[in-house]
Amino acid sequence: MSTQPCQLLIFGAAEIVSWDSQAPSAADSVVVVDGKIAELGQEADLRQRWSPLAEVDAAGGLVAPGFIDAHVHPVFAVGRAEEFDWRAQGMDYLEIAARGGGILSTVQHVRATDPEDLFDTVCTHLRRMRRHGTTSMEGKSGYGLSTQDELKSLQVLAQAGAAVGMEVFPTFLGAHMFPLEYRDNQEAYLDLLCNEMLPAVKEQGIARAADIFIEQGAFSVAQARRYCERAIELGFKLRIHADQFHQLGGVELAVELGAESVDHLEALSDAGLEAMAISGKTYAGFLPTAPHFLRQKENAPARKLIQAGVPYFLATDFNPGSSYTPSLPEAAHFGRIRLNMTAEEVLFGITLGAAGSLGLEQRKGHLRRGADADLVVLDLPDLFHFGYAFGENPLSQLICKGDVVPF
Ligand code: NIG
Ligand code: FE
Repeated sequence: MSTQPCQLLIFGAAEIVSWDSQAPSAADSVVVVDGKIAELGQEADLRQRWSPLAEVDAAGGLVAPGFIDAHVHPVFAVGRAEEFDWRAQGMDYLEIAARGGGILSTVQHVRATDPEDLFDTVCTHLRRMRRHGTTSMEGKSGYGLSTQDELKSLQVLAQAGAAVGMEVFPTFLGAHMFPLEYRDNQEAYLDLLCNEMLPAVKEQGIARAADIFIEQGAFSVAQARRYCERAIELGFKLRIHADQFHQLGGVELAVELGAESVDHLEALSDAGLEAMAISGKTYAGFLPTAPHFLRQKENAPARKLIQAGVPYFLATDFNPGSSYTPSLPEAAHFGRIRLNMTAEEVLFGITLGAAGSLGLEQRKGHLRRGADADLVVLDLPDLFHFGYAFGENPLSQLICKGDVVPF
């Protein structure tokens, strides 16, 4: 039988998670052609029909779609390790923020950092994520909080994604916090967001979505409504931070406005949960490393949300203040521990769930024929071991668009 050339053959998997109900159940190998998934099957059969230009031996590991981190704050210049000690002394996240620490201290550093240096740091963050299997990501601005510094952040993010070879789906988060200079004139900052920043970001075409932090000490529901309606008018998708510490009605607003996702949800009310269940469209973004990092007892009611049929993803929330981890496998572990999610659910949450929340489910998050050939090979004997160990990186091989990538 004659063979056809293919870009890559991955063989020797103990198990392949493809999220494809049509895939042969005994498949141990994957064929890649032109950066796309061509076929799953058994090695002996595939070798009769394909002559691979490159090969990866999965060595009895678990093969899965490349991880997609759907909630990330990667555009920061330095970490905030000192806050860790303040927290140990009993100060909470919102108290630290009220003192000009927290988000606003990161803002000071981002503003003071020139674009070249910020680019180098963001590239480092993206490489750290990739080292743990992230092949695509959403990325937020939100530490600039002026027109100039938000545009700088989004431009640097795009450049870093291109330089590192990570597909980045950018979100404008100018409404992360009121900057110090507007603390006593919130309406003026909202005017700036709606009349200058959102239109400028739109004009440059450097964000697909807009985000807002609805919380005490950040934005109220009424302020969020104005910002979100303007963002919709300009054609942005919405991804929203709500119910992290207090139930203010942000979840209900997100659902009413048809947001792609509403994230955190540690303080989600029954009414909020019902609104999400009835809509069935707005994704729940689970970020279980954030309450861990903040020493918060409450967890998002993941089991109830999943049971109610609410679509969901799981993400790192990688940022310097509330979740300083670039690792999706680590987030998955916390999903299993804190949210009582199964191995299958957490892996779904960082692949197809994440892709769905970003409107990418046609080409990412699964290994169906025609999908982007972004894959991870994990040094795990089966799916049940995913999110079991922690503090250990399970990644053994990384493939982006059919190319084996060093990490
Ligand atoms: O998702 N909650 C708001 N924003 C981020 C934290 C950002 C920071 O503390 O720097 C979050 O947790
Ligand atoms: Fe966040």
